[in-house]
Amino acid sequence: MSLVPIVSTVAAAALGATLIMAGSANAATTLGAAAQQSGRYFGTAVAAGRMGDSTYIGILNREFDMVTAENEMKIDATEPSQGRFTYGNADRIVNHARSQGKRVRGHTLAWHSQQPGWMQSMSGSALRNAMLNHITQVATYYRGKIYAWDVVNEAFADGSSGARRDSNLQRTGNDWIEAAFRAARAADPGAKLCYNDYNTDDWSHAKTQAVYRMVQDFKARGVPIDCVGFQSHFNPQSPVPSNYQTTLQNFANLGVDVQITELDIEGSGSAQAANYERVTRACLAVTRCAGITVWGIRDSDSWRASGTPLLFDSSGNKKAAYTSVLNALNAAGPGPTTTTTTTTTTTTTTSNNPGPGDCTATVSLNQWAEGFVATVKVTAGSSALNGWRVTTTLSNGTVTNSWSANRSGNSGTVNWTNVDYNASVPAGGSTEFGFQGTGSGSGLNPTCAAS
Ligand code: G3I
Repeated sequence: MSLVPIVSTVAAAALGATLIMAGSANAATTLGAAAQQSGRYFGTAVAAGRMGDSTYIGILNREFDMVTAENEMKIDATEPSQGRFTYGNADRIVNHARSQGKRVRGHTLAWHSQQPGWMQSMSGSALRNAMLNHITQVATYYRGKIYAWDVVNEAFADGSSGARRDSNLQRTGNDWIEAAFRAARAADPGAKLCYNDYNTDDWSHAKTQAVYRMVQDFKARGVPIDCVGFQSHFNPQSPVPSNYQTTLQNFANLGVDVQITELDIEGSGSAQAANYERVTRACLAVTRCAGITVWGIRDSDSWRASGTPLLFDSSGNKKAAYTSVLNALNAAGPGPTTTTTTTTTTTTTTSNNPGPGDCTATVSLNQWAEGFVATVKVTAGSSALNGWRVTTTLSNGTVTNSWSANRSGNSGTVNWTNVDYNASVPAGGSTEFGFQGTGSGSGLNPTCAAS
């Protein structure tokens, strides 16, 4: 087989920036503008299916400057069958938000719930690799467009145990959460990476303490985590705790941003308004509380509509809770310092020419200071493949994890072979596998052969 390298290099530097926004003398008249006065955001969950509703979209466009897809970026939506990624509804939300100058929170890359059927039935290293591949693919697809990712959602058990939640992901090994964060950092070094959970609002609760210890441990060991999301779904059985601000502050003191990510408070009238004001004031009192997202626009849009938990009634009118939030935001002084880190993304593609009945391997490399993620595309020649073998060269790097291929070795000459599901590649078709490593991933020079 002849080896004809085709190399293209694109280097982009996302420059570091520090932004401090001061308070405004004039009261703002929308939630987003009011939050911006203290350098914060005010967001909402958006459902693609409601975007044709003019009342809904009118409020969205007017009031909010951050958007979370309510369901459309979840695993069952973005990878309905293994290796087939669908972004139609997620793109509708992301593109609309960005076209309106709004930012996007990504929700969510790894979760025990809303897994597609194929993932629910997986376990062990196959599941670990599938999870890492999912994170890499989705975060890479949206690279540069996401303000913050909920990398891992709801991984701790309720109650007094302080334990991890039992799930198929947890059973792949206790390090699944940090592996997820590392894969997300590799795929989109510019996005803030959050751990997101509910029932973590009361500082005295075992679940809150357990998440706190995990974040403390991650910061101590250099696991890339930037933020903690507090879903904050409140109702009479689970009220806003008196120590809510203490919780936010204690997490912030670990050196992460805190974000209120899915706020809704069941109730009505002045009692509901007072609770919304308390939550808003708690965020405003914590310098690293970056912003608040409510989990829907009108009460009728809520996942628990009967509890009328949102800021607009079902006709789209502003509720007392809306006014209390707006006033609290307007009363705030200068707020958080928003810092983005400096990263360099280099994409290198190398290709070799396939002979008849043979295959091509190309690699797309995302390299940053300490490591890299390589995505290798195997393309069949003029005949179908029933198995394939790829060889790569890693002169100055070490593979730390990989997905969608069997591997032998982790540095120097590394050999890869198909796994069961991607052995068959039709003539002219392709499949992908990937790996993450420390050090440099340059000079991989993949070669491919049918087996
Ligand atoms: O779209 C289908 C519809 O076609 C079908 O007829 C109907 C029948 O059940 O289901 C519809 O899908 C539902 C989807 O919401 C859209 O409305 C799903 O069944 C339903 O399970 C799904 O619920 C979502 C829930 O997450 C699933 O876990 C809620 O909308 C969404 O608000 C909620 O959001 C979660 C966060 O992601 C994580 N934190 C908790 C929060 C509230 O549960």
